[in-house]
Amino acid sequence: MAADRRSKADTLALRQRLISSSCRLFFPEDPVKIVRAQGQYMYDEQGAEYIDCINNVAHVGHCHPVVVRAAHEQNQVLNTNSRYLHDNIVDYAQRLSETLPEPLCVFYFLNSGSEANDLALRLARHYTGHQDVVVLDHAYHGHLSSLIDISPYKFRNLDGQKEWVHVAPLPDTYRGPYREDHPNPAVAYANEVKRVVSSAQEKGRKIAAFFAESLPSVGGQIIPPAGYFSQVAEHIHKAGGVFVADEIQVGFGRVGKHFWAFQLQGKDFVPDIVTMGKSIGNGHPVACVATTQPVARAFEATGVEYFNTFGGSPVSCAVGLAVLNVLEKEQLQAHATSVGSFLMELLRQQKIKHPIVGDVSLPRRHRGVGLFIGVDLIKDEATRTPATEEAAYLVSRLKENYVLLSTDGPGRNILKFKPPMCFSLDNARQVVAKLDAILTDMEEKVRSCQTLRFQL
Ligand SMILES: Cc1ncc(COP(=O)(O)O)c(C=O)c1O
Repeated sequence: MAADRRSKADTLALRQRLISSSCRLFFPEDPVKIVRAQGQYMYDEQGAEYIDCINNVAHVGHCHPVVVRAAHEQNQVLNTNSRYLHDNIVDYAQRLSETLPEPLCVFYFLNSGSEANDLALRLARHYTGHQDVVVLDHAYHGHLSSLIDISPYKFRNLDGQKEWVHVAPLPDTYRGPYREDHPNPAVAYANEVKRVVSSAQEKGRKIAAFFAESLPSVGGQIIPPAGYFSQVAEHIHKAGGVFVADEIQVGFGRVGKHFWAFQLQGKDFVPDIVTMGKSIGNGHPVACVATTQPVARAFEATGVEYFNTFGGSPVSCAVGLAVLNVLEKEQLQAHATSVGSFLMELLRQQKIKHPIVGDVSLPRRHRGVGLFIGVDLIKDEATRTPATEEAAYLVSRLKENYVLLSTDGPGRNILKFKPPMCFSLDNARQVVAKLDAILTDMEEKVRSCQTLRFQL
């Protein structure tokens, strides 16, 4: 296949002419042209191999042969909408239901994470008869108009906050108001949600839902303190709303210990709605909403059909089933635990060596779980000022060293690791060795008063 049929410069020129600059490139100053990928590796037009540390969509590995074959074989037989009886959709819903707590037993299939969250919003509003939403600060829940409205990460740069949206602080025990030395940050942060709800109610507003990523990712690879979600759910339910867990970035075994990241919050916690995307189809556009019977029944009572042309097609469901089969057969959930723990240990050693590494793990909490890991880069231990420019410099140097990483968090200073789940112990060693060498070189340069070529 002639994926590299024109020079990189020509591709860039054509892209700049034809594709909106709102659709951004990684490394805009020197974009990478990727022509193929396999497992945890991506290859450019010159054949150079990059270790992919960020692609949580290629969940079981880029172009996994089992997933590719499943799509191809089903494509040869039938691909149509879900208005016909077909075994794939029911087999798939059954398999997903086996991974979830019993009450989450009704499924809708869609094409993207945004579609899933938009449907979750509709479900919540129909079920509760309320309109308003509580979200966490810095959250991102998708690109549809409805979701930009509930994504502080986006709406802060656009029209601002709508009157039906209420923002609660991120339960960030490294940078937030309640930190690692607080006796009960879960309760303290949940009380913030209670306060936000009460203040909305005082203005006559009624809460339909609380939306949160089970582990806020754009917010900076945050791991909410255990027990926080149950407490929040109590406050939200009391206000007549439902709890929506966005698992679009973090579900499907990424956290290792559990299949779903919300399960880190304790076995008694069950969201009312769970949304899935990205990793669910390993790159094929698949998404899903799981909810309870009462929520689904309220939506059905409107008498309006939910129709989605491509959602739940035999091909999408074959792909989804193949992803679950690979996860199971290759034991990738257990693999995420062992490789993730090893990587975190290596990163912890970097924290001891390099003062710029602020938070990987502190005695009472961790900045990572399974293959979802954040490294918070700071200018200074006392103030924890985000080392934004340094983080951008590091990412660009890592790219020169064939490692693809990026940053997250409001200060864009959190290095995020969320690689394909086949990321290996050897990959962890290689990446941290490169990180170490670049940090050492940076420190050398700062000591000898050389200017670093920072990019923002
Ligand atoms: C947490 C979260 N929710 C929803 C979405 C939207 O998913 P999609 O881009 O598939 O529409 C994203 C995408 O980045 C996301 O990170």
